[in-house]
Amino acid sequence: MDIIIRRTPDEVGAYAADCIEPFARQGATIGLATGSTPNPTYKELIRRHREEGLSFANCKAFLLDEYYGLPRDHEQSYYSTIRREFTGSIDIPDAAVASPNGEAEDPHSAAASYDHAIRHAGGVDIQILGIGANGHIAFNEPTSSLRSRTRLIDLHPRTIEDNARFFDSADEVPRQALSQGIGTILEARHLVLIATGPAKANAVQALVEGPLSASCPASALQLHNAATVVVDESAAELLSDAETYKDFDPYWR
Ligand code: GLP
Repeated sequence: MDIIIRRTPDEVGAYAADCIEPFARQGATIGLATGSTPNPTYKELIRRHREEGLSFANCKAFLLDEYYGLPRDHEQSYYSTIRREFTGSIDIPDAAVASPNGEAEDPHSAAASYDHAIRHAGGVDIQILGIGANGHIAFNEPTSSLRSRTRLIDLHPRTIEDNARFFDSADEVPRQALSQGIGTILEARHLVLIATGPAKANAVQALVEGPLSASCPASALQLHNAATVVVDESAAELLSDAETYKDFDPYWR
């Protein structure tokens, strides 16, 4: 893993945007994450699109996950969120942005067909990831198999509580989600996980320095040969050896 530590969330966003830009230029398949952490990255990519002509017109995108049981046009569905925060402000065709079908009658076959669609498209070239305070990636909660595929997942009470800020109350947060599995995510050719703020410090420490364990699903990045973890100083504050991690640019940049 390459660990990159930056001072602020905006600097983290700029670094992550630098990682994604060359892939956009190649018309790559980009894996997108929702949540608030990637927003500075998306803002910076939108700026580069508007001011520097960075085009995503030949790209495809796959979302990591979607709430199950929330209508697609609900403002908190990830389908709506990614359009509002990112893809609606760049030139990627709307039809090229795929997400799991959170309204499917049969969630298990919707999950399997989403997993198949990613493979059929040739896989994800670069995947953006956030991390939950409990170490989850996408919606792979602790105890998720490190080889799991896209599937229906029961959300952890901590995740429901954390995501309640996007809804009027915790009661409105869906209890389930369709999420790419850890095995699915590990098939992406490059991974860029971003984390900012002190609430992520424990999870970042477990991801970087803890054992490989389903208790911290993000630790699965230790198995990937092109994973970059970009954090701000407060998310890095529990790393025991942060000084030595600083500023080793990933080999592929
Ligand atoms: C959600 C998403 C994850 C995201 C996590 C952290 O549960 N499914 O993909 O990484 O929240 O979100 P935030 O960046 O808002 O802290």
